[in-house]
Amino acid sequence: MSKRFYITTAIDYVNGEPHLGHAYEKIVADVIARSRRAAGQETFFLTGLDEHGQKVQQAAQAEGKTPQAYCDELAEVWQRFIAKLGLSNDDFVRTTQPRHQRFVQAILSKLHAGGQLYKEVYRGSYSTKEETFLTAKDRRPDGSFDPIFGEVIELEEENYYFKLGAYQRWLAEHIERNPSFIQPAHRRNEILGFLKNDVLEDLCITRPASRLSWGIPLPFDPDYVTYVWFDALSNYASIPASFGDPALAGPLGLPPSASQPAPSLWPADIHVVGKDIIRFHSVFWPIMLKAAGLLLPLQVLVHGWWQKDGQKMSKSTGNVVDPVRVIDDWGVDAFRYYVLRELDIGQDGNWTHAGFKSRYSAELANGLGNLVNRSLSMLKRYREGVVPPVSTELAADGERALTETRAHLSQNHLQAALQSIWSLVARANQYVDHTAPFKLAKDPAQGRRLDEVLYNLTEVCRILAVLLSPFLLETPAKIYSQLGLGALPGNLSAATWGRLPPGHRIGTPAPLFPRKEGC
Ligand code: ME8
Ligand code: MG
Repeated sequence: MSKRFYITTAIDYVNGEPHLGHAYEKIVADVIARSRRAAGQETFFLTGLDEHGQKVQQAAQAEGKTPQAYCDELAEVWQRFIAKLGLSNDDFVRTTQPRHQRFVQAILSKLHAGGQLYKEVYRGSYSTKEETFLTAKDRRPDGSFDPIFGEVIELEEENYYFKLGAYQRWLAEHIERNPSFIQPAHRRNEILGFLKNDVLEDLCITRPASRLSWGIPLPFDPDYVTYVWFDALSNYASIPASFGDPALAGPLGLPPSASQPAPSLWPADIHVVGKDIIRFHSVFWPIMLKAAGLLLPLQVLVHGWWQKDGQKMSKSTGNVVDPVRVIDDWGVDAFRYYVLRELDIGQDGNWTHAGFKSRYSAELANGLGNLVNRSLSMLKRYREGVVPPVSTELAADGERALTETRAHLSQNHLQAALQSIWSLVARANQYVDHTAPFKLAKDPAQGRRLDEVLYNLTEVCRILAVLLSPFLLETPAKIYSQLGLGALPGNLSAATWGRLPPGHRIGTPAPLFPRKEGC
């Protein structure tokens, strides 16, 4: 079976609040997944939840629930959230699922058998909030720890460590040889700089079960559970392995899948993650895989962080963007459009309500919405909704938009792709102004010319619907339905000029992006 395109997102902490940052990352991955499907590639898109750890254990206890019951409730909230975003994910991983735990135990056993793990006593300053030992680098100039670490205690503990240092040179060379392994380039340089100038310390991968029971037990030492990152990173491979993916099941000695033939997903093509967790994904994860004799993912695609009104988003100060509110008020397409158009992947963003409204009215309502509405209304009024003979006046503009959109999407340049699509919107709106069909309609001698103009405008509307199909969920289908055409085509090749058949009768035009008062 040929390998599918396989894309993942970070798995969110189940006890966190779904916010703009989570929504953005998931939408970026969703658009990439949809764009690969629209290019004819078989695709698998995975997202999910990170459910183990001290914070979950404590929060569940505080609410008098078992950790599993607590996670099950929150998982429903998150699943409603991703449904609201309209994600096209093929599966949803939860790290408490047995299918995930089996893989984590298999990779731990393999590393242990291969002599990659050792046990050692460590004493030091421990942040209970961050569940991690702090180092000299975490101290402020006055020697104290930042309040973000919460309560810091002195702790002595014996744990298992994973030997990372042995792989430092190998990883630096791998990143040098594969420029696309970490994208964008400034993030790659950051990691290369770190690998060349710092000493990679071994990674503590356990917690004593006496202190933290809410984790996956080590298969070779029941007094310990895996620490969250080892557990969490494994999700990207555990799900393909659970289907019996030959690239994982074979090397780890896992049972073959029940459903034959098993889909071939591994190695992942893209892990989409935020900039705060780049080191886990581009240093720890590749070393874990290499040490276990598994193939590395092809790319870690690192996105920036959103602020709101120039400030860090924080629930305690009320400075948050709630995507569900925005979607309820403005529609899922307006939300998806704004976040994708506003930021190139890798840049940091700043949400302002004024900025959101301004793109909504200029680019969606007055740009795309107005073009489609006036084009279809004129066809209805002047030609009773019947498509005139094929004309090619805007064919070159349409073809350019298709070529550019494809090229940008193949590079995951989502913002640039939207810019190319909106060049076609602008060109067509300008064409209406220049050709003035409402004047042509008054002069019976201009009938042929009016036919040409109406064909070009209607065909541009159809092409825009196809080009937008990886980005927006409702608008492309609405345009197709107003055009009286059937289901939206699944492949971008449908955006080739001239497919709108003359003589076809369109449906009923209706505004795509209603103007809003007072929002
Ligand atoms: O880190 N802007 O989970 P998480 C953009 N469970 N992205 C943001 C953001 C913001 N303001 N805030 C968070 C975890 N994110 C781990 C991941 S993966 C094996 C384990 C992004 O819920 C963040 O960068 O804290 C990360 O990619 C994702 O949301 C989940 O963050
Ligand atoms: Mg976080």
